[in-house]
Amino acid sequence: MAAGTPLLKVENAGIRFGGLKAVSGVNLELRQGELAGLIGPNGAGKTTFFNLLTGVYVPTEGSISLVGEKLNGLAPYKITKKGISRTFQNIRLFSDMTVLDNVKVAYHSLARHSILSSIFRLPSHFKGEMEMEEKAIEFLKIFKLDHVLHEKAKNLPYGQQRRLEIARALAAKPKLLLLDEPAAGMNPQETEDLMNLIALIREKFELTILLIEHDMNLVMGVCERIYVLDHGQLIAEGTPEQIRNNPKVIEAYLGEEVS
Ligand SMILES: Nc1ncnc2c1ncn2[C@@H]1O[C@H](COP(=O)(O)OP(=O)(O)OP(=O)(O)O)[C@@H](O)[C@H]1O
Ligand SMILES: [Mg+2]
Repeated sequence: MAAGTPLLKVENAGIRFGGLKAVSGVNLELRQGELAGLIGPNGAGKTTFFNLLTGVYVPTEGSISLVGEKLNGLAPYKITKKGISRTFQNIRLFSDMTVLDNVKVAYHSLARHSILSSIFRLPSHFKGEMEMEEKAIEFLKIFKLDHVLHEKAKNLPYGQQRRLEIARALAAKPKLLLLDEPAAGMNPQETEDLMNLIALIREKFELTILLIEHDMNLVMGVCERIYVLDHGQLIAEGTPEQIRNNPKVIEAYLGEEVS
């Protein structure tokens, strides 16, 4: 990467749904290795912004680039290959597949050999398959899921399903990991563990992470930089301290939570 090129550069990006500007005029840059937060009230456009970054929606204005390369209009799977992975606000796992297979599927999406030959496990692909399995188990150890490798995803407790989703997103070898409310529905202990885990995987995999989160303590504790969306527009960006004290933010969203 050329010196100074941001990992992610979003310029004036937005999308309309009919008359509604769900996201509008957003400018945002993430440096390689940064752990940033995206906050804002319900309906502010946070998830829609992730949908723009991942190609679920094509921006109706502006541009999005990853390491200087424009992503606008690319299909979601191509954007995944270029290096953006995500998790979803509402967990999306292959619920009838095992924990291990949920992660292996993500590898397969990147692998050179065809899905068909993988399904039939042709001998020529056995080595690849073994390597994938080893790597998948390695990931799952980090997420403390290696004791449930052969359990169906739907049978896991909620907190473990959330961790599995992150493990699966990581298996696609992203440069940028987008987490949409990863701690939603977790208890305080699970949440704290998750935040430690997010900090750890950032280091271990040299990731850049953008995290949507409602829990202010959590987002302020773990993120170095925070962006605030309100009614589809960025109204503030800065360090947790700057955000905590920004009157616009307090008025729009945080209120007594940070006073
Ligand atoms: N496909 C769509 N068609 C029409 N409107 C949409 C669509 N997707 C999102 N919206 C609207 O865009 C706005 C932003 O929604 P979004 O889900 O991005 O908010 P959010 O910040 O993620 O909220 P939450 O904190 O509740 O998850 C909302 O008004 C929503 O109804
Ligand atoms: Mg959302």
